[in-house]
Amino acid sequence: MQTKVFLNEDEMPRQWYNIAADLPSPMQPPLGPGGIPITPEMLAPVFPMNIIEQEVSTQRWIDIPEEVLEILCKWRPSPLHRAYALEKMLGTPAKIYYKNESVSPPGSHKPNTAVPQAWYNKQFGIKKITTETGAGQWGSALAFACSLLGLECKVFMVRISFDQKPFRKLMMETWGATCIGSPSEQTNAGRQILAKHPGTPGSLGIAISEAIEAAVTDKTGSTRYSLGSVLNHVMLHQTIIGLESKKQLEKIGVKKPDVVIACAGGGSNFAGLAFPFVNDKINGAQIDIIPVEPTSCPTMTRGPFVYDHGDTAKMTPLLPMHSLGHDFIPPPIHAGGLRYHGMAPLVSQTIIEGLVTPRAIDQIECYEAAVLFARTEGIIPAPETAHAIAATIQEAKKAKEEGKEKVILFGFSGHGLMDLAGYDNYFRGKLFNYSLPDSEMGSAIRELDALPKPKVVRTGKW
Ligand SMILES: Cc1ncc(COP(=O)(O)O)c(C=O)c1O
Repeated sequence: MQTKVFLNEDEMPRQWYNIAADLPSPMQPPLGPGGIPITPEMLAPVFPMNIIEQEVSTQRWIDIPEEVLEILCKWRPSPLHRAYALEKMLGTPAKIYYKNESVSPPGSHKPNTAVPQAWYNKQFGIKKITTETGAGQWGSALAFACSLLGLECKVFMVRISFDQKPFRKLMMETWGATCIGSPSEQTNAGRQILAKHPGTPGSLGIAISEAIEAAVTDKTGSTRYSLGSVLNHVMLHQTIIGLESKKQLEKIGVKKPDVVIACAGGGSNFAGLAFPFVNDKINGAQIDIIPVEPTSCPTMTRGPFVYDHGDTAKMTPLLPMHSLGHDFIPPPIHAGGLRYHGMAPLVSQTIIEGLVTPRAIDQIECYEAAVLFARTEGIIPAPETAHAIAATIQEAKKAKEEGKEKVILFGFSGHGLMDLAGYDNYFRGKLFNYSLPDSEMGSAIRELDALPKPKVVRTGKW
């Protein structure tokens, strides 16, 4: 009985996988003012050119720089676990594996892209990086990466999480970063929102606006902005998760999983685990691939595929993606990292193609799953990760009903040791399910009517 599968450091992937090379239909470009496709030069005030080159690349394999590999080796390759105790508790014939990204120093998958992003910025001569954070996982990951590479870091943290999770701010400060609640008085975008909605819980869309504004208004020219999800280069960096998982499954003789599951906020956690398996599916493998989101922020399952801005103040280009509208402020659920109105264009395209099948789950079912996991496997999951666990339990029960010995692989994206306030509310019966009524979704989506529409291209093979 083997509980964990390890790789040696020299077995770690040396290249990231870029799914843009293999998608059955090509990606549609981001659009700037007047609906004109964005050129790399237009993004230059926001991102360094070496990252922009990755953003637009369609090269299938991209080398991971040696110095980045050395830093990733502080916690990678991450272990693949077999969830024997959970399987036994569920009485399922399914074999459940999880890829444990909670072993990174900040506690989630986010450093897999924070380290290369900080590295590329440094190579380009940048001294300071600004960013947003929802639950605090991304902010602490970037603070960690900047501290290892000697860069300054400023994080705008969504107000609701800033209040719920004071220890995340302290982690960022320990790694030398500055962390402020968003919306803040420090930017035009923040001041405008505060004037309109004084008690707002904030949103990732607002925090992104503030972080971009803080970067592009720095007169020294040595500050850039960094995004923890959504963009193509972030999906790329996270594919190390799925590439390692494939090698680990091969090592124990599993040819392929039958089901792959991960939660999706902006999409990078899901993409990171799933895209190498989506490649297998494009090449004929039968795999059910499931991104999971909260019913309170149902971007993939109910949001239309549109051109929309990535942020509330409309500073970003228009991206072709599933979206609930850039003005949408999601209910204050505890899975702060899943409270985002949009979905990565690359993930959105795999949904449109039918390569992956999104699912939405209520908050309380997720906490039930998280507690069952903690009491069987031992690790306390982040509320975001709990969505993947809840979907895994649904699939394991289905396998039991069907009497099938399926292999289920899910992404254990982060631990919940900084998220215990959510568990407290759950145990005291203070949590609610917030399934969104259609009326509430309407107004933010109507805002999109005036924007250009992407083509819905389905090759119809899946
Ligand atoms: C633990 C954890 N899992 C998953 C996510 C979702 O991340 P992504 O934007 O990569 O989909 C987050 C986001 O903050 C997170 O903190």
